[in-house]
Amino acid sequence: MLSISVKEFLFWKTKQLSKGGDSESLSILLDCVGGLSSNDLILLSTNPDRKLYLKKKLEILESIWEEHLLSSSPIQYLCGLTFWRDLKLKVTDKVLIPRSETELIVDIVSKIFGNKVQKILFAELGTGSGAISISLALANPSWNGIATDIDQDALEIARENFINSSQQSNLKFYCGNWWSPLESFKGKLDLAISNPPYIPKDTYEKLPKEVKNFEPKVALLGGEDGLKHIREIIQKAPLFLKDKGWLILENHFDQSEKVKQILIKNKFTSIEIVKDLSGIGRFTIGRYK
Ligand SMILES: C[S@@+](CC[C@H](N)C(=O)[O-])C[C@H]1O[C@@H](n2cnc3c(N)ncnc32)[C@H](O)[C@@H]1O
Repeated sequence: MLSISVKEFLFWKTKQLSKGGDSESLSILLDCVGGLSSNDLILLSTNPDRKLYLKKKLEILESIWEEHLLSSSPIQYLCGLTFWRDLKLKVTDKVLIPRSETELIVDIVSKIFGNKVQKILFAELGTGSGAISISLALANPSWNGIATDIDQDALEIARENFINSSQQSNLKFYCGNWWSPLESFKGKLDLAISNPPYIPKDTYEKLPKEVKNFEPKVALLGGEDGLKHIREIIQKAPLFLKDKGWLILENHFDQSEKVKQILIKNKFTSIEIVKDLSGIGRFTIGRYK
């Protein structure tokens, strides 16, 4: 543990930000590697003469920060961790860094199922770091979940994140292409969720380098028009959902209307477009009949 005065630390922090980068990324570094949360810092800032304690020396934090600025590598990958809802998750370049807008999926599920249902079976297709599935499994111990991904390395990280976040055993992990690992659950799912790769090819080519050069292509690219995976997921969903089962999809900012049409074409009902906190139609949801 390194002990340093708050005043000295704040001076160091301002110096780091003057080199570039944003304060959110620096906060992630301080929290994940330094062991100092933003809340701790706010509380301590009222008394600049107090001492604060860091898990790592300032030189170590500074070298990670400079690597982040130099290489454009997301700070979460350099720290190996990220925060999502109330979870602290391991992330490597094998998984997408879960985005804050995706957090709303958990609230959408809670709104649909509330406390009405004691036991449901859900599947998440393309779990990445496991964020969505782990959050749902932890919040609902009586539910059973299956998290899938085509990438075995991603699945191992999701599994590790689940083990590290709880003692529960209500989430299982299966590897494979979209619905194929779920053959034995045909007609049994109350809920399926997916935040699939949905970036259209042209847009993918123009993504900022901190995304395109570091995050997995398989997690982002959704084919020519971005809807390749969404179409496949919707078309096969009726085989796996129970009667009146729900499908919740995240999509690109301008895809909701198109996703809605694909759902209608595949006989889904109760279709709704749910906006994210920026007012973008980010989620499209429906029930199978
Ligand atoms: C946009 S990321 C979402 C990750 C995570 N659910 C989240 O919200 O942060 C899409 C995920 O789908 C997985 N994926 C891509 N193609 C797939 C396929 N054909 N079958 C199953 N999973 C796939 C990727 O490996 C990636 O983890």
